[in-house]
Amino acid sequence: MKRILLQLDTDAHASSFDAVTALDSGIDHLLSHGLVNTSNVVPLVQGTIFTRGPKDLKNTAIFIGGSDVESGEKLLAKVQEAFFGPMRVSVMMDSNGCNTTAAAAVVSAQKHIDLSQTRAVVLGGTGPVGRRVAQILGSHGAQVVVTSRSLSKARHVCSLIDGTSSNYIPGIIPEEGDLCSLLEGANLLIAAGAAGVQFTNIEDLSQCESLKVVIDLNAVPPLGVEGIQSTDKARKIGSITCYGALGVGGLKMKIHHHLIEQLFEANDHIFDTSQIYNSAVSLGQM
Ligand SMILES: NC(=O)c1ccc[n+]([C@@H]2O[C@H](COP(=O)([O-])OP(=O)(O)OC[C@H]3O[C@@H](n4cnc5c(N)ncnc54)[C@H](OP(=O)(O)O)[C@@H]3O)[C@@H](O)[C@H]2O)c1
Repeated sequence: MKRILLQLDTDAHASSFDAVTALDSGIDHLLSHGLVNTSNVVPLVQGTIFTRGPKDLKNTAIFIGGSDVESGEKLLAKVQEAFFGPMRVSVMMDSNGCNTTAAAAVVSAQKHIDLSQTRAVVLGGTGPVGRRVAQILGSHGAQVVVTSRSLSKARHVCSLIDGTSSNYIPGIIPEEGDLCSLLEGANLLIAAGAAGVQFTNIEDLSQCESLKVVIDLNAVPPLGVEGIQSTDKARKIGSITCYGALGVGGLKMKIHHHLIEQLFEANDHIFDTSQIYNSAVSLGQM
């Protein structure tokens, strides 16, 4: 029986990145829809659960993407609401690569630091990737400064991640670009700003004595941290261990491909942040 993936994207154009990755993961057929929201998704889901018998439903799966994580989360909830009894298919949510990229970044960092002893700063912490990086770090005991150019936006994102936890601290990126006070006591910096946004350089970061690991996820020049190459993978610059976007991206792609394959192993998998991170931990050890 053909493996069919239904790509539900909250943006007008369903992500070509997600489409190519799905096809490269060995599916037989991709059905892509853009502008999917909680009002129009149910018939699309019913089309997946009523077309094949229960024992064959594992051959159909759903992927949720798009640039807006909150919309993706709402869509995931609505999709699950439409399931009942055995009438369900497996679902993966990865809006803008948020979960796979964040999981790969955290697993890379964990090779060098203990999360329960970590104070991290996430630059661009309000984007899809940055907020998931913060969520994973904070849920494993790290203290995380979630930064933005706007303190109120940083506060809002901290409350969305977990309004009850003191592990998430809103921070503002200083306009002059001197990050030293922001980084005081931090051993991990993850730059998750928009593509082509440069925040700082490795020379300045070397002045921050506590800093042990720096990960820059931006692959589009100028890179997020000048002096880190996008291909860097655990490269030592002075006392700091550095990763660039492609240095993390290999593991990100491995996780993404693996989980698309896993969707078709059963009809009841839900792959969101914690499940994707758990897979990343296993894959990162191989
Ligand atoms: N390596 C990989 O495998 C991989 C995979 C996926 C994505 N990525 C990269 O990961 C990064 C984060 O992705 P994303 O989708 O979360 O990014 P995003 O939503 O485009 O941007 C993240 C944050 O950057 C901040 N920002 C935007 N313009 C800025 C500017 N001019 N100056 C300073 N800050 C600015 C915004 O925060 P505020 O408005 O709150 O300041 C925004 O929330 C991107 O560079 C993306 O290309 C890498």
